Amino acid sequence: MKKIIIEPFKIKSVEPISINTEKERQKIIKDADYNLFLVNSRDVIIDLLTDSGTGAMSSEQWAGIMRGDESYAGSNSFQRFNESVKDIFGFQYVIPTHQGRAAEKILFEVICKKGDIIPSNAHFDTTRANIEFQEAIAKDLIPDRFKDTQSEHPFKGDMDIGKLKNLIDKHLNKIPIIMMTITNNTGGGQPVSMSNIREVSRIAKEHNIPLYIDACRFAENAYFIKQREDGYSDKPIEDIVAEIFSYADGCTMSAKKDGISNIGGFLCTNDEELSNRKKDLLILTEGFPTYGGLAGRDLEAIAIGLREAMDIDYLNYRITSTSYLGRKIHDYGIPILMPPGGHAIYIDAGLFLPHISKEQFPGQALACALYLKGGIRSSEIGSLMFGRNASHELVRLAIPRRTYTQSHIDYVIEIIKEVYDQRENIKGLKIIKEPKFLRHFSAKLTIIE
Ligand code: F0G
Repeated sequence: MKKIIIEPFKIKSVEPISINTEKERQKIIKDADYNLFLVNSRDVIIDLLTDSGTGAMSSEQWAGIMRGDESYAGSNSFQRFNESVKDIFGFQYVIPTHQGRAAEKILFEVICKKGDIIPSNAHFDTTRANIEFQEAIAKDLIPDRFKDTQSEHPFKGDMDIGKLKNLIDKHLNKIPIIMMTITNNTGGGQPVSMSNIREVSRIAKEHNIPLYIDACRFAENAYFIKQREDGYSDKPIEDIVAEIFSYADGCTMSAKKDGISNIGGFLCTNDEELSNRKKDLLILTEGFPTYGGLAGRDLEAIAIGLREAMDIDYLNYRITSTSYLGRKIHDYGIPILMPPGGHAIYIDAGLFLPHISKEQFPGQALACALYLKGGIRSSEIGSLMFGRNASHELVRLAIPRRTYTQSHIDYVIEIIKEVYDQRENIKGLKIIKEPKFLRHFSAKLTIIE
């Protein structure tokens, strides 16, 4: 028998959860027009809306917060942040930003022009939006066979090498950089293999195209490589991380994920000229290059959090607890995107609610049902978010880092099973009011009776 993998931490400070009733939640969700972004967090029992900025900081990080040096220029906290990032990722120039998308904005403003094409295994929405803001094209190159949510493969985040080569053959002069997102968030938190990163890097070098990594969940990706790829089981996570980034020319990072911090991000590069142009833009929007829109204390929390995210006991617990949730509901017959990802479980709401058509938002209907039954907040990644471009109707259960215990997860499993048993009673939704852009954040919906 394998020993239970326990949470490798003790709890020093707690935040109460208020437990409301199903009857109260009926009113709350109706008042929020069936949009969970409009529900107040005090009305949520388990919040799985995102794993971004929602992790619990360690006592070391809180100690770092007290050490924060708030000098405008050249602060000691920046020195510690700079050393930590350089040591882990190995790039020459490090530019702090207030979060991931600010790093993306600066990167694409500097390297991208109208009509350019930026290939990736799968761009995250903010990356795509920042590319499209430059009137360039964001291209996802996931192999078609990985689009089946039920197929199992250890590295479903890999880029399709054939598709990349075709794109380069046709449009070499329009490709200023290649991106790789580790792990692939929009496609289920699936990891990218080292061999795929190495091959993409080789092709990029052959054509003189820089390779940048969206590093948000770099430690989780490294753990999957250690677990699943030949030749890595004995390597320390730190060495695997160093190898991944040795193949790249730079990276963007949201420290709200594997930096286990509540805010922050950064941009790294080896290109001095680019770094200087990026810093000029940084001063315009984010702040002086030694704080980049963050407080000194935030830089301390990130410097420490990045290292803690690579701790093997932490990663063991982190990945095991996510897959525990996935496997338990999958064994019950509930369709999830397989295999379980690193930071989240994605329920296939199209398969869960076959009686609700795409036009009636099965993902949103399921997310509302989970809230009603158990006060669980999740997010729809489907037709409400992407309109007609949605390839799947998914509901993401994103797990905040070090925040919930196994009994919280067991509660989530129990609620999902109950909702599954009563799935025929769930009704579709229709939009009554929607904004022009990013409608999922503020659209108002109602139940179709
Ligand atoms: N890249 C990826 C892969 C992400 O998942 C995110 C954010 C970003 C970039 C942008 O970072 O939020 O710091 O500006 N993902 C969050 C989520 C919002 O819920 O998945 P940010």
